[in-house]
Amino acid sequence: MCSSVTRRNRLAYGTAVALGSALVIAAWAGPASGDLGDRLLTEFRGAYPSAGPHATHERSFDIRAAPTEVEQIDGRRLAVWAYNGQVPGPILRVRLGESVRIALINDLPQPTTVHWHGVRVPNAMDGVPGVTQPPIAPGERFVYRFTPKDAGTFWFHPHHHGSEQLERGLYGVLIVEDAKPLPWSRDLVWVLDDWLLGADGAIDPRFNTPHDLAHDGRWGNFTTVNGKRTETLTVRAGERLRLRLVNTANGRVFAPDFSGLDARVIAVDGLYTREPLDAKGFELAPGNRLDLDVTIDAAERGRTIEIVDRFTREPIPLATIRVLDEVVETPRFASPSNRRVPRWAQATSAPVDVEYRLNARRGGEYGIEWTINDRAFAGHDQSPAGPFERLEPNRWHRIRFVNESFRLHPMHIHGQFFKVIARNGVPLDEPYFRDTVLLKRKESVDVGIVPLGAGPWMVHCHIQEHAEAGMMTVLDVK
Ligand code: C2O
Ligand code: CU
Repeated sequence: MCSSVTRRNRLAYGTAVALGSALVIAAWAGPASGDLGDRLLTEFRGAYPSAGPHATHERSFDIRAAPTEVEQIDGRRLAVWAYNGQVPGPILRVRLGESVRIALINDLPQPTTVHWHGVRVPNAMDGVPGVTQPPIAPGERFVYRFTPKDAGTFWFHPHHHGSEQLERGLYGVLIVEDAKPLPWSRDLVWVLDDWLLGADGAIDPRFNTPHDLAHDGRWGNFTTVNGKRTETLTVRAGERLRLRLVNTANGRVFAPDFSGLDARVIAVDGLYTREPLDAKGFELAPGNRLDLDVTIDAAERGRTIEIVDRFTREPIPLATIRVLDEVVETPRFASPSNRRVPRWAQATSAPVDVEYRLNARRGGEYGIEWTINDRAFAGHDQSPAGPFERLEPNRWHRIRFVNESFRLHPMHIHGQFFKVIARNGVPLDEPYFRDTVLLKRKESVDVGIVPLGAGPWMVHCHIQEHAEAGMMTVLDVK
């Protein structure tokens, strides 16, 4: 699973990332060859650990997926499918250094699985039916066990008929706290989603419609934050918040506007950024997370701050922050960051190892198929037929995504992080890793990646309807 090179270098532990939250591999003394891939790999070493911490103890959770009713606005009841009776599902909080055991009980009328989005789990725990495990039949249970290797904001959701199961309400948040959490005044989560409700106020039961498939998936007529129409937050001036945003929508992209606040992005898709970044211009496509470091300035005393989404033409209210008159002292500490995020300035001189062309065609079960390199994935219950693209573990690689269509495609790679190195052929140093990158119409995106975990990992569009209609493939790391 790990090359001898990695194993050798595990002995060179000792340098810690920001916060001392994770042991990392010290700079790698690679072969003296001038080979570009080796140099890029050398630059990568220490960006995040290849092995997880040694778990000191286990945290155990039971999650039951079942139909239920939750309260909707104006007190009406909404029939949903939910984890532990709530939408969003539970927030599982663990700390780096703990192992996790989650027993999933399936009381749904369909098979299901749970995928731990962004978490570098062992392949067998990745929750992909037909690829890493059989689907969990109604009435059955499955126990997931893993030790998180990274602190950060992650989430979980079914990987079986996601376009229906996520939309009906199945998703939850997994927070892996730093080994030594910083003294924020508060650590908050905003789960962003939308519902498509019919005139009767119920979830529109028509999934995978020709319209949604031909466009950017299913966009609701009702956005939610933490399952409510909008979030209301009452704070004292001076408070310093860690705000974790997660986009769990099937298709909707959010662009929350934090310009009224002192808010800086400190983590993208779980991992800390190289330095704190201006929150302006950040978008959350389905699957993405953003962690913000927010300080409520004393000057905001008594004010009300509205946070709106600006992705669509009409701004959509997301949250109201009411600042009390009371002033508290702001916790002082440097914003967490990861200076070891590589620049990979030479990366665009490296050859492209894998190219994924994204497109659509007529045909298939839904009348339209979304394809990757002219193939529509036939997954679900049966094991998909290869051959698939292959990458070597512990080596630097370049992947190119080419959007040949006019629709949005947030492309997600399981079990790995990657870094955007170019957009439309223009070199780019995004100062952070990601696990999901949004491609807009006719865009191409190049990423650098060092796969660390062996196994068949999914690569797919996170717009659930596109994935359901074939936009999914396997990347074999071996
Ligand atoms: Cu959150 Cu395969 O995805
Ligand atoms: Cu897509």
